[in-house]
Amino acid sequence: MTNYLYRNVNKVTTNILQRMRNEGEKIAMLTAYDYSTARLLDMAKIDVILVGDSAANVMAGYKTTLPITLNEMIYHASSVVRATERALVVVDMPFGTYQGNSKEALNSAIRIMKESGADAVKLEGGVEVHESVDRILSAGIPVMGHLGLMPQSINKFGTYTVRATDPKEAEKILSDAAILEKHGCFAIVLEKIPAQLAKKVTESIHIPTIGIGAGGDVSGQVLVLHDMLGITQQFSPRFLRRYHNLSDEIINAITHYIKDVKDADFPNEKEQY
Ligand code: KIV
Repeated sequence: MTNYLYRNVNKVTTNILQRMRNEGEKIAMLTAYDYSTARLLDMAKIDVILVGDSAANVMAGYKTTLPITLNEMIYHASSVVRATERALVVVDMPFGTYQGNSKEALNSAIRIMKESGADAVKLEGGVEVHESVDRILSAGIPVMGHLGLMPQSINKFGTYTVRATDPKEAEKILSDAAILEKHGCFAIVLEKIPAQLAKKVTESIHIPTIGIGAGGDVSGQVLVLHDMLGITQQFSPRFLRRYHNLSDEIINAITHYIKDVKDADFPNEKEQY
């Protein structure tokens, strides 16, 4: 049974995440892209809010995360930051803003931090991005890594199915995790990899691992909020636990409103001036 030692901290920091990992308290992370939702997450005392580039799918309706721009991510991130007092706010660096060269990566990360007020950035990849990780960290910006299924590489992978079921890719993930730790990442997201491999990665490094479809033997979990609340309906991978069926509730409320308007039942006398 966990004690939730850090439930009452005023502000979650990367140090606190490390302490949670060391003391066996699981880290809870969810996505948000706007002020009102981030406020609810912060009131519920989520540890980390991820302004994910999944905003490209969930907010903008793109098929992949590739089209979202740096300006759009900064817009989402600054809305989230304005709502957040306690949670650590981590912002995804969008596709094309850090892979090219490390100077560009640094400039993109600085823009995110300066213009949104976020606490940290996240980027996808291992050895391929270690120079960018170094450079961003040299400016004092905390970096979260992301290995396994990396949605920005969907055109290379060709599929969103589970990664690293073959020993070669599994070895690469282990070695990439060690590289990201060595270069100073404060945590690593492990997406859609076998639970046994996620356990091995978690045991092989000293920084927190945050899993999504990576089993329970990791330091914490992350889900896309719209998926776990049942707002998105088309997406139901095995790893997703739905905590609500909000789409039905929202559609019911809207249907009710339409009926009230059509029946001239809304507004009533008390709802007017
Ligand atoms: O963009 C995102 O929401 C993510 C999570 C799925 C980890 O990267």
